[in-house]
Amino acid sequence: MDQDLTQTVQAVHDYWNSHTLGFQYVTDQSIEPGTPEFYAHIRPWMNPYKFPWIMERIERESALLKGKHLLEIGCGMGYDSLEFLKRGVRVTATDLTPNAVAMTIRHFEVEGVQAEAVHTANALDLPFDDNTFDAVWSNGVLHATGNTERAIQEARRVTKPGGRIMISHFYRKPSWMYLMHHVGRENIEYKEEDPPVNTFYTEAEILAMFKGCDILEAVPEHYRALPVRRDGVKAALYKYGFRPVYNLLPESLAKRYAYKLSVTAVKL
Ligand SMILES: C[S@@+](CC[C@H](N)C(=O)[O-])C[C@H]1O[C@@H](n2cnc3c(N)ncnc32)[C@H](O)[C@@H]1O
Repeated sequence: MDQDLTQTVQAVHDYWNSHTLGFQYVTDQSIEPGTPEFYAHIRPWMNPYKFPWIMERIERESALLKGKHLLEIGCGMGYDSLEFLKRGVRVTATDLTPNAVAMTIRHFEVEGVQAEAVHTANALDLPFDDNTFDAVWSNGVLHATGNTERAIQEARRVTKPGGRIMISHFYRKPSWMYLMHHVGRENIEYKEEDPPVNTFYTEAEILAMFKGCDILEAVPEHYRALPVRRDGVKAALYKYGFRPVYNLLPESLAKRYAYKLSVTAVKL
């Protein structure tokens, strides 16, 4: 990696290591992180539970991958990997940051599931041989790495030919979130400080990054403005102003402004 990218990865690492996704949803500070109560407390706000279509995708892919080996890149607290493990998929869960890895290891202990491995890994330089995994899953990560195309090609490299690469949640433009982020300076992940990188792409730009793959589907998601667990003036404007008005748009129109895209591809 060149010096600029190394610096970006360091900044991304420092941000996410102190903002492991999930902590922003804690409303009862008396709950001890790493306890069963902790994981249960934030669970309704985490991906597979908050967004039913992600759970459906995990169920669909698990049926194909039972007994096979899946790599998750950027596992956060491990909620997605957990659902694959519960369905008989062998999982290696990785994240750039030691704190996310520690929270995932603890989460699997609490749930009584056994992963193949859980460790730190940089999506831009994966520590695996070519053609290692039957599938790769990465949810809400690769647009936040500093070089999305390189990360996708790394995911492709470590996937076996014919294996599935499921990269969810690129930030799209144009989209309602793109507008809010750029015009309203609205944060996405955290109210006080966003990650150093959150790159928005057009759909054509996203699909062009999947060289050497056959794209099976590219699904626009988050075309409705979702509830947020935040307070403050901006959050109030969003909750009581923008959200109810935007959500009146008919579905066909709203889908054009979906802010995420989930791609399922096969390595050629
Ligand atoms: C928005 S969070 C998503 C976490 C999890 N996938 C989820 O949906 O709950 C982004 C995650 O990507 C990780 N990440 C960012 N850059 C990465 C990189 N270069 N390699 C691996 N993980 C990375 C962060 O540490 C963080 O845990």
